Amino acid sequence: MKPRYQAPRGVRDILPDEIDRWQFVERTCRAVFERYGFREIRTPILEATELFERSVGASTDIVRKEMYTIERGDESFSLRPENTAPVVRAFVEHALYRGVAAGYPEKVYYIGPMFRYERPQKGRQRQFHQIGVEVLGTVEPMADGEILEMLWAFLDELGVTDRELLLGSVGDDACRPGYRKRLVDWLEPRVDSLCEDCRRRFHENPLRVLDCKVDADRRILAEAPTMLESLCADCSDHLGAVRGLLDRFGIEYRLDPRLVRGLDYYQRTVFEVLASGLGAQNAILGGGRYDGLVESLGGPSVPGIGFAIGMERLLSVVPPDRGRKGTTDVVAITLGKEGWEGAVELVRRLRRKGVRAVMPLRERPMGAQLKRADRLGARFALFVGADELAAGRFGLKDLSSGEQESVDEASLAERLV
Ligand code: HAM
Repeated sequence: MKPRYQAPRGVRDILPDEIDRWQFVERTCRAVFERYGFREIRTPILEATELFERSVGASTDIVRKEMYTIERGDESFSLRPENTAPVVRAFVEHALYRGVAAGYPEKVYYIGPMFRYERPQKGRQRQFHQIGVEVLGTVEPMADGEILEMLWAFLDELGVTDRELLLGSVGDDACRPGYRKRLVDWLEPRVDSLCEDCRRRFHENPLRVLDCKVDADRRILAEAPTMLESLCADCSDHLGAVRGLLDRFGIEYRLDPRLVRGLDYYQRTVFEVLASGLGAQNAILGGGRYDGLVESLGGPSVPGIGFAIGMERLLSVVPPDRGRKGTTDVVAITLGKEGWEGAVELVRRLRRKGVRAVMPLRERPMGAQLKRADRLGARFALFVGADELAAGRFGLKDLSSGEQESVDEASLAERLV
């Protein structure tokens, strides 16, 4: 039967059969990030449109073409296309900067949906999920080094070892204007050969030309001067210090002079991680420093750095055997009316002890019950009949090895949790 209603294009359900992998990744991220002193922050999905115009940048593709914007009365809201700007907004609004001290920044992480009206394809949805972290309150290269080291620890725990870190720097307010001029001089004689978008970008924000996705343009732009060659001494030293830390932590990386991020707020460090097997959308995460962002959103001069991982892309490179833990410990196989009645009480007691136990809501043939245990991916089947109830011992069958033993109720919970 053809369903009458379908989820909108580019937006999808995460079904119970796949939830254990999602929860595994989320659990691992919480455990790892909290080891590094990060705490969770939850910001709203809806924000003032202007927040993204001012931070991500009015001339970026994200803001120009990809936002879901809702006008209500004379106000304009947008579904968040990313979460750095909302986190910084909350940091300023609640004066969290007051808790920041030299060497002790505010460290937060988030997990949640983001929305971009892009053309859906493999690895690209209109609603997707990000796991992200933001460190607010330090320019120390150690912050850059620490989040990258944490990221590597996280990916190691997930079993994502086929990865490549690209590192670059986009300079700061001291050196970017000089580079911008160099780029404009170089682009001037070539701009007519570029696409229409690039001709507009050239006038609005020439640095965004480097973000062009059109192949013919990219071939031309491959020859353009790079920011890396134009870094001032401070930015160059900062990058050198970050590289030193990566070497010290044994994290391999490729310095990419042409690494361009699609958001305007970056300063100095930028990075992406690519994973193989993902096709064109091969960036599982991106991030960098945004030292001027807090101030531009009305806060004090507080630097920041962070990254965001695309959950869907990450999940497609987490090895398939990871996180398939199942959500059921035991299925009670009830034998006859008396068995079913007794199982109601037994299962109730087991659940109170923390066992994830399932049983049929009415008497069912044994074959059907065993089939269900298999469907649920349960670890054990527990046989409950009149004899078992009288003896206080039950047959417990390990459904992967097929081995069966007889256990009493007291030791059941211990075996099953
Ligand atoms: P971003 O590079 O725009 O950065 O997005 C980060 C990641 O989100 C991408 O590498 C990708 O894995 C995933 N992603 C982005 N768009 C889509 C999409 N349409 N479908 C599926 N996955 C997608 C940011 O969002 C910054 N806020 C990162 C950051 C945090 N920088 C500093 N702090």
